[in-house]
Amino acid sequence: MAELTDIPTLAELEARLAAVPTLDAPALETESIAILGRKSGALTAIMRRIPELAPEDRRDFGAAVNSLKQRFDQAFAARGAELALRSAARAGPGPDLTMPGRQRWAGGLHPTTRVIQDVVGIFKSIGFAVAVGPEVEDEWYNFLALNFPPDHPAMDLHDTLYLARSGEPGEGSRERLLLRTHTSPVQLRVMMAGPPPYRVVCPGMCYRKDTFDASHLPAFTQIEGLAIDEGIGLVDLKATLTHMARRLFGPETVVRFRPSYFPFTEPSGEMDVRCGVCHGAGCPVCKQSGWIEILGCGMVHPNVLQNAAVDSERYTGWAFGMGPDRMALARYGIPDIRMLREGDMRVLGQFAGAP
Ligand code: DAH
Repeated sequence: MAELTDIPTLAELEARLAAVPTLDAPALETESIAILGRKSGALTAIMRRIPELAPEDRRDFGAAVNSLKQRFDQAFAARGAELALRSAARAGPGPDLTMPGRQRWAGGLHPTTRVIQDVVGIFKSIGFAVAVGPEVEDEWYNFLALNFPPDHPAMDLHDTLYLARSGEPGEGSRERLLLRTHTSPVQLRVMMAGPPPYRVVCPGMCYRKDTFDASHLPAFTQIEGLAIDEGIGLVDLKATLTHMARRLFGPETVVRFRPSYFPFTEPSGEMDVRCGVCHGAGCPVCKQSGWIEILGCGMVHPNVLQNAAVDSERYTGWAFGMGPDRMALARYGIPDIRMLREGDMRVLGQFAGAP
């Protein structure tokens, strides 16, 4: 129990009450505990002494203590609020609640991704499966097994990004690792994984030592297609690829096939679609030709079938390889292929939410 002399008189407390509006934050806290603290605050101590008073004095004294307590409560609360306001003002202006909110970006699929998803979707709907292969390949899968002659210029260091070229003469092609230059090696991986028939599309990234210019990307996408079965001929190839082009670019789409050369197909061709921007009149997107080349194709060379241990007497089929990045340019009228990779929201934002 506190000594009598420790307990302030009501008159002394009135004086301390008057000083409350001048206290700073830490002193305010200390004083509040010293006066109002439940266990050892001055007012509690005073209350405890009430039984010592003459019974007739107790009520008035108790009322006086209660009134003092209330006035301390108010004084501490008022001073506390004042100090809080002042420190908020010192912290600078608060948020401007009248500012409009930040615009939220609605995400969208990249134009190339849209083309890939659409092409893959079309082929899936006619019974093709999806297969993928590694981006790091070896020279055998990427070139030799695809019937490239060993001195083919595509295998040159100038065109292909080799990862480990321990390739002294005599070194095995399976040791020479590279970033695949096309998705065609996936054809072999599919055929070597199980027996025919095969009907697959294979989307993925490819890499070449190309300069990054208006029509070349050193890292680009391709979709490979492969259909091998008994009795498959050139007419199936033309019909299937024409069907795909019409579903992708619209039912009126005009296509043409031109003869071409690839080591892994015989005969080989390329398919063009009538430019959807100028409808054949000539424009920068089709480089004034009226046509846009979208894929290479052909009947799979018997050597390739044999390299994958597929019976080339019994099975025949066709393959194609297309470039979704270039197809996105044609489809959306984008004049420069670099726009697909620069991440400029003024370009890509136009595809947010578009079909
Ligand atoms: N691999 C070829 C390239 O990158 C594209 C290609 C052409 C793939 C004809 C094929 C094909 O499967 O049959 O240019």
